[in-house]
Amino acid sequence: MASEETGTLFLNPDRNLAMELVRATEAAAIRAVPFIGRGDKNAADKAAVDAMRKFLGTVNFDGVVVIGEGEKDEAPMLYNGEHVGNGRGPSCDIAVDPIDGTSLTAAGRQNAISMIAVSDRGSMLDASSVFYMDKIVVGPEGVGVVDIRKPIGENLRALAKAKGKPIEEVVVAVLDRPRHAQLIDDIRAAGAGTRLMLDGDVAGGINAARYGTRIDMCVGIGGSPEGVATACAIKALGGLIQGRLVASTDDERQRGLDAGLKFDHVYEANDLVTSDNTYFVATGVTDGGLVGGVRRKGPIIRTESIVLRGRSGTIRRVIADHLAAKWLGEIDLTELSAP
Ligand code: FBP
Repeated sequence: MASEETGTLFLNPDRNLAMELVRATEAAAIRAVPFIGRGDKNAADKAAVDAMRKFLGTVNFDGVVVIGEGEKDEAPMLYNGEHVGNGRGPSCDIAVDPIDGTSLTAAGRQNAISMIAVSDRGSMLDASSVFYMDKIVVGPEGVGVVDIRKPIGENLRALAKAKGKPIEEVVVAVLDRPRHAQLIDDIRAAGAGTRLMLDGDVAGGINAARYGTRIDMCVGIGGSPEGVATACAIKALGGLIQGRLVASTDDERQRGLDAGLKFDHVYEANDLVTSDNTYFVATGVTDGGLVGGVRRKGPIIRTESIVLRGRSGTIRRVIADHLAAKWLGEIDLTELSAP
C-alpha cells in the first residue's frame, strides 16, 4: 500500500492546512494563561475563544463551525454554523474547542488543551443535539480486535493479546465520573490498570491511539463533539474509535432523533467523519500527557502543539517561541513564570 500512496504524496505534496491552524490554537492557549488557577472558567474560555476566532480569520479557507461553542443565541462567537477563515480556499467543516478542560484551567490543573479539527465540507457528524457519547478508542493494534458491543473484560483481553503483553500491563484512560464506577471496577477486575482523567477525553483518546504512550485504551462516556474531533485525529493516527450516543433525558433523545441521529447505533470513525481529508491540531494550555503547557522563558513565550494530518498520517510536534513583548499590553503575562 504504502509505496504507491507514499509516492503520490511525495511527488504531489499539497498544503497542510493544520500548519496554519496551529497559530489559532497557540493564540488561544497563550490568551488563556492569565486565567490558569483563577477559578473563573468562563473568563478563561472567553479569552481563548476570542483569540482563536481572530487567528482563524487569517487562515485561507472557508470553514463552517459544525462543533463550536453552542447555538448562535447562546454563543456570540464560534457558534455552530458560523463561517470562519478568510472565505477563500477549501470549503471545510470545523470543530473547535478553544479549551478542552476549562475546569482544569480554572483550577490550575494539568491536561488542558486548545484544539481544532477540520475536514471536508459536509463530512463531520453534527451531534450537537446530544451531549454525551459512549466511546472506545484504541491504536492500530486494536482494529478488528476491540468492539464497543463486547464486555470491557473481553476487549481488554483481546487487546492485550494483540499487543503481545500481559493484561496487567494494559492501561485504560477513563473520565473520573460516578457514572463510570462499574466500568472502572470491571477494568480492574479484568486485571488492567486505570488512569482516571479529571477532564479532557480528546487528549485521552489520542494518547490511546498514539504509538509509544502508556495508555492502551480510552473508554467511557464523554462529550459527543469530543468524539467527532477525536475521530479526525484517529484518521491520521490509525486505530479505532467507536461511539454510541447517550441521551440524558427524553427531550434530548427526541431532539437527537429529530436531528436524524441514531441511538443504539455504533458510530464508526467513518460515520463520525466521512472524509479522510482531516486535520487535527492541539496546543497545551497546562502541562499534560499529550503536549506541554505554555511556558515563559525570559523574553519568550513557548508553546507546544501537535499537528496531525489524515491524508498523510503525519504527526508533527510544533514548538513555537513567541516574543513576549508582542503579546504584552494585550494580556497580563504575570501567570507565566519562568521555569
Ligand atoms: P470542556 O472543558 O470543553 O467543558 O470539556 C471537558 C470534558 O471533560 C471533555 O473532555 C469531556 O468529553 C466532557 O467534558 C465530559 O463531560 P462531563 O464533565 O459532563 O462528564
